Amino acid sequence: MPLTAIEQILKQRMGLHSATVGSATVLQAVERRMRDCDMDSIDDYLQVLRHSATEMDALIDDVIIPETWFYRDRNPFDAFSAWIKDKWLSHNALTRLRVLSVPCSSGEEPYTLAMCLADLGVPATAAQIDAVDISRGNIDKATGANYGNNSFRGSDLAFRERHFVHENQSYRLKDEIRTRVSFARANLLDEAFLHRREPYDVIFCRNLLIYFDRPTQNLVIDRLERLLGGNGVMFLGHAETSLLLERGFTPLPYPRCFGFERASAPKQDVATAAATLPAHRLTKQGASAPARRTPARPYSIGADSAVTVPEPEPLTDDAMLTEAFRLADQGHLDEAAERCENLLQRHSHQANAHYLLGLIREAAGNVQAAETMLRKAIYLDPNHYEALTHLGVICRQKGDDAGARRFQERAARAAQRHPLKEVAE
Ligand SMILES: C[S@@+](CC[C@H](N)C(=O)[O-])C[C@H]1O[C@@H](n2cnc3c(N)ncnc32)[C@H](O)[C@@H]1O
Repeated sequence: MPLTAIEQILKQRMGLHSATVGSATVLQAVERRMRDCDMDSIDDYLQVLRHSATEMDALIDDVIIPETWFYRDRNPFDAFSAWIKDKWLSHNALTRLRVLSVPCSSGEEPYTLAMCLADLGVPATAAQIDAVDISRGNIDKATGANYGNNSFRGSDLAFRERHFVHENQSYRLKDEIRTRVSFARANLLDEAFLHRREPYDVIFCRNLLIYFDRPTQNLVIDRLERLLGGNGVMFLGHAETSLLLERGFTPLPYPRCFGFERASAPKQDVATAAATLPAHRLTKQGASAPARRTPARPYSIGADSAVTVPEPEPLTDDAMLTEAFRLADQGHLDEAAERCENLLQRHSHQANAHYLLGLIREAAGNVQAAETMLRKAIYLDPNHYEALTHLGVICRQKGDDAGARRFQERAARAAQRHPLKEVAE
């Protein structure tokens, strides 16, 4: 089968495990390339692909998933800034910071890191940011540093006012930030990727490993570990964190940042256990609804002089859910679980409440209960990306590779169907 052969070539060249995106997605990319090459036989196309490096690059450019935006998921960048302030600046004032963003896609991630450093007052000469991606189209877009609305998501866009100039219906990144990042086209799977690279203090490798099978993921993590300096930190995507946890890395003590350091660091406490909870997905409306705490019962001052405070109005569903996520982020897992359970008693169809309960059960070591809750979440919302990816991780940890693959495929399809879905900040 020519399509199977093409899938194998893609896996070998760029690591893509076609099951994660589905063969139909690969086929669509191949058909687009065939149209561009004016070809109607897939067998002929396979022959061209085998012999033409240019066509190989063009197919890679078509099949990649370049989805990215500035301050994507927010928490990893807050954690990066906090780590620079708490750890780096106090111990390494005279050393040049080295940062790697791979894959960098069209540049939003490394430029966000550059904005974080500029906002902290770190001079451009005090840090080197290397950014790498396999796609020539992405690297060209990144060096152009001109962005449309799709690169700016969420409600906190103050950074855009500070660091961009609005012109011709797009936003041009100011030179002060643009020149802080060095872009290069490179393939993480090439042995040559390691050549002539000094160790990095910070590595961002987010939202790539989910498209690889287990052996390829391990190969890439081995490679990144070799590139990480002794006291360095590494950030992965939220569905990829098990890869470092399994190697004894320790989560950084910042909420839901999915950043890790080597295991010599202090042991994880309850608050940092919550830090490993994947980013949640709330609607914009839900996230911005005011969250108020409901006292367990009216206050009384002294035994006899009971002063009755008016009963607070009950929280809305959205507010209760927002409150539950906030409590979980702060490590108050029991209270967060209680909020979810109260909410589910009221309305049992809340997918996000099942999802958060699943994460809390897992943090408490009850994987079976976690799986039950996550399955309820995807029953109620079949496109719940985070629940799908998390179920994939659970399957993989149980040794159920086929199940893991199925959930990864579903998650990839959900991400493609709803690329603009907001993540609450
Ligand atoms: C979803 S984007 C992730 C971008 C960014 N890290 C983020 O999280 O927003 C995935 C990127 O991986 C790149 N990519 C795929 N295979 C690669 C490989 N073998 N080496 C380097 N980059 C690769 C693609 O070109 C694409 O831009």
